[in-house]
Amino acid sequence: MRVARLLLCCVLLEDYSTNLGGTAITSDAMRQDGSSSATNPTLSDVPSFSEPIGNVTAAIGKEVALSCTIRKVGNYKVGWLRAEDQTILSMGDRKVIQSTRFFVTLENAKTKNQTQSREDEEATWQLHIRGLKEADRGCYMCQLNTKPMLSQLGCVDVLVPPDILSSGTSDGEVSVLEGENATLSCKASGRPPPRVFWRREKSDFILVRGVHDPLIQVDNLSGERLELTRVDRRQMGAYLCIARNEVPPAVSKRVNLKVNFPPSAKAPNQLLSSPLDTNVSLICLIEAYPKTINLWMRKEQVIMSGGRYEIDERGDPDEEWKTTIVLKIRRLEKADLGEYTCSASSSMGKAEATLRVYGKLSLPA
Ligand SMILES: *[C@@H]1O[C@H](CO)[C@@H](O)[C@H](O)[C@H]1NC(C)=O
Ligand SMILES: *[C@@H]1O[C@H](CO)[C@@H](O)[C@H](O)[C@H]1NC(C)=O
Ligand SMILES: *[C@@H]1O[C@H](CO)[C@@H](O)[C@H](O)[C@H]1NC(C)=O
Ligand SMILES: *[C@@H]1O[C@H](CO)[C@@H](O)[C@H](O)[C@H]1NC(C)=O
Ligand SMILES: *[C@@H]1O[C@H](CO)[C@@H](O)[C@H](O)[C@H]1NC(C)=O
Repeated sequence: MRVARLLLCCVLLEDYSTNLGGTAITSDAMRQDGSSSATNPTLSDVPSFSEPIGNVTAAIGKEVALSCTIRKVGNYKVGWLRAEDQTILSMGDRKVIQSTRFFVTLENAKTKNQTQSREDEEATWQLHIRGLKEADRGCYMCQLNTKPMLSQLGCVDVLVPPDILSSGTSDGEVSVLEGENATLSCKASGRPPPRVFWRREKSDFILVRGVHDPLIQVDNLSGERLELTRVDRRQMGAYLCIARNEVPPAVSKRVNLKVNFPPSAKAPNQLLSSPLDTNVSLICLIEAYPKTINLWMRKEQVIMSGGRYEIDERGDPDEEWKTTIVLKIRRLEKADLGEYTCSASSSMGKAEATLRVYGKLSLPA
């Protein structure tokens, strides 16, 4: 490779040191040539570029081609180089670089116009890059070993689908106390830089504090950081950070927000009157996170399921901090009348609610 490169350098390249300057010279030459060759016969033997190579953009893994079209190339040689490090990719119809991802095709444009004179013939050297990698991003130079050397540049941009970076992104779970501020972060890479936005996984909206403080519903929120001030239990749940750019697929990451608060217990119906010998259900609503241990008590005694007692506990599928506990007493007896207590306790505290069951006279029909 190195030997080949040295050899070719002498054949092909005039001056490495002015490689970026070469671009300017080239475009000058092109402009001059494009406007004057038809009218100025002294330039008729000088090869020239027919048109700029132009830039191409493609997603990683795809194939691109850069076209270098030259008029009146004669016996001069055309080469392709990577501009950044001057690596020679091809020379004439020979490929120099080993990689199978690069190859050059030559198309003679003679047939375009049969009446065209031989001197006006054009030929196109196409540099193809298959299986694009990020490292292929950059400019490529089409060179002609004239004196002075002629060259022009075409650049390849490689687009990359979004990726969510582990550093700078919240772990799967963020845990705060109710009333504290919480920040969910999500850092994404990609080219072009992806748009990052947040949604709730299940519900259709995110709750955030509006300007006047109460929580308001929004569909989504843009930005790498989702700032929640004075977090409310209703904001608990799974959030999705979604990163999207023009290269599919979009990616997402789930972050679970846990809002911890002491339990509360409430009996929606504190006074229950029920005829003897019927079933009666005592209901208690618990709100807590983390989850509580829930008990029904009577006269300081824990009530166990079994016999005429049936205890049922139901979580709320949408609001995981809500639990309903039900004590069902079958065939109510006189001895069952009186006070019942439901209690909920967690590491954050304990709460109780009291209910009273009265007997109701069942009037004979
Ligand atoms: C081609 O891309 C290069 C590098 O990104 C840029 O400097 C140049 O202006 C572009 N040329 C055109 C014609 O867009
Ligand atoms: C072919 O080339 C001739 C001479 O340059 C020109 O007059 C003619 O218009 C061209 N025809 C086409 C179809 O391009
Ligand atoms: C984000 O929400 C706005 C309205 O608040 C809506 O117009 C837009 O389509 C949403 N964007 C996405 C990606 O869901
Ligand atoms: C929570 O955020 C609000 C608004 O950004 C700020 O005023 C307040 O000081 C923050 N509280 C804490 C404990 O950081
Ligand atoms: C009382 O509950 C039991 C079992 O839970 C049921 O079989 C019975 O039909 C119920 N009685 C009434 C009057 O609802």
